[in-house]
Amino acid sequence: MRALFRTKSPELLMREAEAPERRLKRSLSALDLTCLGIGAIIGAGIFALAGTAAAGEAVHAGGSITKTPVINFLIAVAQHTPIVFGRPAAGPAVALSFVVAAVACGFAALCYSELAAMIPVSGSAYTYSYATLGEIIAWVIGWDLILEYAVGNMAVAKGWSDYFVKLLYSLSHGSVKLPLWLVTDPTTAATKLSQGGEATQYYSHLVLPQIFGHAMALDVPAIAIVAGVTALLIYGVRESATANTTIVLIKVAVVVFVIAFGAFMVHPTNWQPFAPSGFGGVMSGAAIVFFAFIGFDAVSTTAEETRNPQRDLPIGMIASLIICTILYVLMSIVLTGIKKYTVYLGDSAAVATAFASKPWAQALVSAGALAGLSSVLLVFQLGQPRIFMAMARDGLLPRYFARIHPRFRTPHITTIWTGIAVGGVAMLTDIGSLADLTNIGTLFAFILVCCGVIVLRRKDPARPRPFRVPMVPLFPLFGVLLCFALMLSLPIETWLRFFIWLMLGLLIYFFYGIRHSRLTEGIDTGDTEDIIPPIVKP
Ligand code: ALA
Repeated sequence: MRALFRTKSPELLMREAEAPERRLKRSLSALDLTCLGIGAIIGAGIFALAGTAAAGEAVHAGGSITKTPVINFLIAVAQHTPIVFGRPAAGPAVALSFVVAAVACGFAALCYSELAAMIPVSGSAYTYSYATLGEIIAWVIGWDLILEYAVGNMAVAKGWSDYFVKLLYSLSHGSVKLPLWLVTDPTTAATKLSQGGEATQYYSHLVLPQIFGHAMALDVPAIAIVAGVTALLIYGVRESATANTTIVLIKVAVVVFVIAFGAFMVHPTNWQPFAPSGFGGVMSGAAIVFFAFIGFDAVSTTAEETRNPQRDLPIGMIASLIICTILYVLMSIVLTGIKKYTVYLGDSAAVATAFASKPWAQALVSAGALAGLSSVLLVFQLGQPRIFMAMARDGLLPRYFARIHPRFRTPHITTIWTGIAVGGVAMLTDIGSLADLTNIGTLFAFILVCCGVIVLRRKDPARPRPFRVPMVPLFPLFGVLLCFALMLSLPIETWLRFFIWLMLGLLIYFFYGIRHSRLTEGIDTGDTEDIIPPIVKP
């Protein structure tokens, strides 16, 4: 039992971070952090998922029980009413879904801030929990972060692929089309074929090859972009402050363009009905678009480089959340105003679809979306291998995963494995399932972080807290409740997958990690993730 809850020493972690050879320059201001947050936040959530959240998934004919949100299932069983199969559509009220998801993230952001400012090392939830809550919680969070980073990136790669196809189409005025089976996965291909019409106009061959009686499709652009990003990361890229600011400006400019230009293309009748599935639709939409906010926690990883972490970390996280929420709400109102929300069924490039009647605008937004999605891919694909590396250094994973390339000084082994897994799965799986799994994992990590704040206030009240969450335990509890409500609004199949994932993680821990942990040998490596700071000031 003692082994399960042993901790690493926070003092050691901080001493190590303060060592002269490792000390990073404290040069980031609140404004830099806000930009960094926006850079990590705006991506597939708004560009690829806002449409699918608005459209839902076949609640009436052909709905599936596995797609039904857990909460709807439970309510129907409790009230002895018939279960409505499928995922309710948020409709134009997806704008409200964004607000619900943002509020949940806001509470979690405050809790992240308290932990990050208390242990200001360039780590993530994995390091904080190892230092404070104990090894098994750290392992669960680290294992869970794979869902946030690696599976999240699979979803982003899918969005990238869809925008790529639409960019080719609009740039060539419809003359360059690729075969459906080469640019989608089997599930998405089937959805598009069942819709027909506009959904299939971007592809040349609509017949899918059969393998052992199963229709086959491989998303080649998704695996290609992941391979490209992986290669870059092995050679070692450091996103410079200038590159980051440029990407942020492009993303925000595209979003503002969609809002400002799209506002003139709106047909208000499309906003009727506003919330076709009522509150249930808004919640189930929120559970999808929660994805759009993931990444603000990346800001906390810059604690060591922030001039005044006490003040600037919370400002950076909350400001980026507020700015993104405003942009998302306006953009989703415009998207559902330009076309009826039902058009976006299974469409992971809704913004391009909305502008289909204006090829130049479609090309512009597709190019902007591609740039934005690429930067999210880079940041997440950078973070995942370093978390693996930290876990391997701590002995919870084999040392093999902690190897550093002799020349490029990057964790090449974990970078390659992450690339293979992300690209391979993205090639065959639909974006919706991937985003759902990412969301459930991240929501769970947020819940643990919120609980962590409450536990630590009791367990270690004397430790200096440069930033304190107001109204503890109320605020962290709100965070826990809201995140849990969002988890319950995810489909049954996502819960099953998540459960299997956690069990697999615990098996690995009990058969490997607990015995090989460096703490078992009495060694506290002190090492943190050592995430290369995403921003480097000249
Ligand atoms: N928030 C990031 C995105 O939407 C993960 O792509």
